[in-house]
Amino acid sequence: VDFLKGVVAMSGLPPDDRAEVCFAGRSNVGKSTLINALTGRKAIARASNTPGRTQEINYFTLGDERYLVDLPGYGYANAPLSVVEKWQALLKQYLSGRASLRRAFVLIDARHGVKSVDEEIMSLLDRSAVTFQAVLTKADKVKEKDREKVLAQVRSRLATHPAAYPEIVLTSSEKGDGIATLRAIIAGLD
Ligand code: GTP
Ligand code: MG
Repeated sequence: VDFLKGVVAMSGLPPDDRAEVCFAGRSNVGKSTLINALTGRKAIARASNTPGRTQEINYFTLGDERYLVDLPGYGYANAPLSVVEKWQALLKQYLSGRASLRRAFVLIDARHGVKSVDEEIMSLLDRSAVTFQAVLTKADKVKEKDREKVLAQVRSRLATHPAAYPEIVLTSSEKGDGIATLRAIIAGLD
């Protein structure tokens, strides 16, 4: 895996000559950290505890045949409103207009479940006919006995979205849970 480029406008996207997957989700949900865990590189994607860390669409090449795309977060971000509005607009254009986007992983904090901003993004993906898959993050922060409740909430929300892929992946970038599963899903997309 290598970093290819950071994109700030649709015109800057690389040629759509190969399949790509993207990681979307609320600010601070763990998108960049998950990309690091998937690639086994500690800091190929920049992560931080400040919501709004990723402000561009960051492209990573996975060999010659796939792109991994780290997206800016939506929802609350610790950045000026004018800047946030700009990247939100770009995010929406990207999610609705990228022909080579094979699957969007929608990351959801396992402590919080699906929020209304997630619903907005999922509905956008429905309208754009982009298959998306829910990935719960930070599973290490949720006790075993509380996991079933959040899974049930996510499952019932997904059932209302035609573009949702039914399997939910529970992950912890910290502990490594779900990382191999997600790698296999990405490798298996054509
Ligand atoms: P933006 O780029 O701001 O939208 O955020 P992001 O979704 O890329 O989040 P990022 O990967 O920067 O992670 C946010 C914070 O959550 C960091 O402090 C991470 O260390 C932490 N974090 C991410 N994944 C996990 C996880 O699986 N477990 C725990 N305990 N912390 C995590
Ligand atoms: Mg990020």
